[in-house]
Amino acid sequence: MNPIEDEAGFGVYVHWPFCAAKCPYCDFNSHVRHKPVDQPRFAAAFRREMELIRERTGPRTVSSIFLGGGTPSLMEPETVGAVLDSVARLWNLSPDAEITLEANPSSVEADRFRGYRAAGVNRVSLGVQALNDKDLRFLGRLHNVEEALHAIGLARDIFPRMSFDLIYARPDQTVEAWAEELRQAISYAADHLSLYQLTIEEGTAFYGLYRAGKITVPDPDHAADLYETTQEVTASHGLPAYEVSNHALPGAESRHNLIYWRYGQYVGVGPGAHGRFIENGQRIVTFTEKVPESWLELVERDGTGVVGGETLTRSEEADEFLLMGLRLVEGIDLDRYERLSGHPLAPDRVRTLLDEGLVEPVGNSRLRATPAGMVVLDALVVDLSR
Ligand SMILES: C[S@@+](CC[C@H](N)C(=O)[O-])C[C@H]1O[C@@H](n2cnc3c(N)ncnc32)[C@H](O)[C@@H]1O
Ligand code: SF4
Repeated sequence: MNPIEDEAGFGVYVHWPFCAAKCPYCDFNSHVRHKPVDQPRFAAAFRREMELIRERTGPRTVSSIFLGGGTPSLMEPETVGAVLDSVARLWNLSPDAEITLEANPSSVEADRFRGYRAAGVNRVSLGVQALNDKDLRFLGRLHNVEEALHAIGLARDIFPRMSFDLIYARPDQTVEAWAEELRQAISYAADHLSLYQLTIEEGTAFYGLYRAGKITVPDPDHAADLYETTQEVTASHGLPAYEVSNHALPGAESRHNLIYWRYGQYVGVGPGAHGRFIENGQRIVTFTEKVPESWLELVERDGTGVVGGETLTRSEEADEFLLMGLRLVEGIDLDRYERLSGHPLAPDRVRTLLDEGLVEPVGNSRLRATPAGMVVLDALVVDLSR
């Protein structure tokens, strides 16, 4: 193994920035276009952008590829095939690499799924969001429950691994209703579920409605109850949390997301993608132009859509490592924290948080947030990184 590769892995993230409609809660880089997207042109631009990034990363072994969005299930299988082919030509693609594609239930067809599978995709992550039609309409989704279940069935038949997402803490959602919906979800699940609390993001349609008092979200106590219920129901059904919002059978964790949380390295390709990798011994961050057409023009002109980035200082790296790692049930490796930051975590702060029951040791060399700590994770990280 190349010495600068660590055990956390090396991933390639490719962003497909188009959706059939914009969901009212979503602030991801997603755009609706009424003219057909020139997919071969995008595939060629992904390739060009990767070529320049490859010059910066040098040879690496790719352990995961993630096609995220937006709605990557609007990509033609040929486009997906071209992207995967580009990755494999430029880097060393590990034979057991995890290759995930995000799909929306409204854009799922059996032939298209088979095409993705033939192109090399071996894991699908479906945006189901809710298992009742009323809430699906509220969330502005283009699918109903029947279509979601059809998509889950197809994904389970065609791909070796699949996960689906639900959004909870919806307006007026009771603990009982959520627990029941979750049990149903688990009965349809394969080996992985992502369960996100609804957040009201600035700039979204929900933000305007929320500010105008037209929608309400659960208060912090009720949200904490919903979160605890999520942990209990999933754990008692064999899909325990391994991260704040992610649940899996042991061994079925998303390897790609583990790269982020274990502070591994990844390149980000496509409009609005971020990358974090070691270049000349230092961890650098890159981000690309967000508007798809502008990104395309930049790549065609300059070979890259990267419009910014920075080299992280040791203390910034250490803070990011904490922020990501404490989301994981496995917690953080204290020696690695020390190697990154140049000093151990402040013993007095750790002691206080231990006394408050917000963190706990795992063996001799790791520290993790307790379930109570997970609920106040942001504050906890700020406290530890001061
Ligand atoms: C970037 S989206 C892409 C998935 C795919 N386009 C879809 O919608 O089915 C990834 C996931 O983030 C979650 N998500 C997006 N915005 C959210 C919000 N404001 N609150 C909670 N979860 C959100 C949804 O569960 C969604 O499936
Ligand atoms: S949630 Fe998914 S489908 Fe909806 S706008 Fe965001 S990326 Fe597109």
